[in-house]
Amino acid sequence: MSYEKHRHRLLHEYPAISDLAAKAQKRIPDVAWQYLVAGTGEEKLLQRNRDALNAIAMPPEFCKGDLEPQLTTSLFGQSYNAPFGIAPVGLTGLMWPRAEIILAKAAAKYGIPFSLSTVATETPETLASHIGDMGWFQLYPPRERHLREALMDRAWEAGFRVLLITADVPTPSRRERTKRAGLQMPPKMTTSFLWQGITHPVWTWHTLRRGLPKLRTVLSYSEFQDMMSVGKFVRSRLGGNLSWEMCEEIKAYWKGPVVLKGVLHPADAEKAAAIGLDGVVVSNHGGRQFDGAPAAIEALPAVARIAMGKMAVIMDSGIRTGLDILRALSLGADFTLLGRAFLFGVAALGEYGGEHTIEILSDDLKNNMIQLGVEDFSNLPQPRL
Ligand SMILES: Cc1cc2nc3c(=O)[nH]c(=O)nc-3n(C[C@H](O)[C@H](O)[C@H](O)COP(=O)(O)O)c2cc1C
Repeated sequence: MSYEKHRHRLLHEYPAISDLAAKAQKRIPDVAWQYLVAGTGEEKLLQRNRDALNAIAMPPEFCKGDLEPQLTTSLFGQSYNAPFGIAPVGLTGLMWPRAEIILAKAAAKYGIPFSLSTVATETPETLASHIGDMGWFQLYPPRERHLREALMDRAWEAGFRVLLITADVPTPSRRERTKRAGLQMPPKMTTSFLWQGITHPVWTWHTLRRGLPKLRTVLSYSEFQDMMSVGKFVRSRLGGNLSWEMCEEIKAYWKGPVVLKGVLHPADAEKAAAIGLDGVVVSNHGGRQFDGAPAAIEALPAVARIAMGKMAVIMDSGIRTGLDILRALSLGADFTLLGRAFLFGVAALGEYGGEHTIEILSDDLKNNMIQLGVEDFSNLPQPRL
């Protein structure tokens, strides 16, 4: 049955991303929930991301007659139907089986980008028939050049056209919360995990149908295919050694736009522009890597000033509403990404989750644009900081 038949009811039952989060928490095993919501260290940055967004106020202007907000925007020469997309999320199938497929289909249907993580649980090839021209691929660059190129070749051939290089994982995060919850990378079948499976039968039924989550894209590069060996491969051979030289090599190899994800320091934005990258994502990985980082929205204005006229600026980390998206655009972002919001959607509503998350955000965006008195993003007011 199509989402449209449920849209009206769902917008009443789940009008906000926080409603999806509350439902998701009940529907998925605790270990998956803790993985999804985790920050790192004392998790101060999670709150800082939210507080900094909430602190941005924009003065509305009234008496403008009928307003028809336009959400369409263009980025890298491509038109998107809204100024937000789906951020790359690893181990996705742990939160909800086939999450990538559900989200890729929703993105293609609504005309917004979907980013596939290197460590997602579905492959570029599986998504090829669902994603249309909305696919972005996120690269944790393998140390060996032949592996890097093999991954990029697969993504390109499957139809992914924008490449995100993730810069902000120089080393795996400690993410204490996931350790306390008993999550091992890759996930292990412990008694507690089995018990959580028994007490979350819908999740378990879908998981058994799809098969236990595996890092399917990188599986074939690991000498052995068992979860331990693949986990070891990821830790030892993916990422951690990214340099500007490697970014230049990747830029020369990839035929589409290349974007550096995880930029917070103006100096990094300057270097990215100097080597000819097409854009940066101002992001602190949703507060999951370095608890001492600034909120992404705090770092945005300085990066946007450097990028102006040279590179696109995308922002993520902490966005939960259409209003947050407007806040980011008003401070110089060309586009935004959301990670957890979409996983809350899919974990809460399964097949309808991607579409419903897009509907909530689009509805909220339009409503807040009318409140502000604007019809497009070029006329957003200067925020009061
Ligand atoms: C569960 C989870 C897994 C993630 N995995 C990846 C990943 O594999 N690669 C990556 O570049 N970013 C990853 N991120 C970061 C997101 O791409 C994005 O930067 C972040 O989720 C934005 O913050 P938000 O969740 O508050 O929207 C992950 C985030 C979450 C929540």
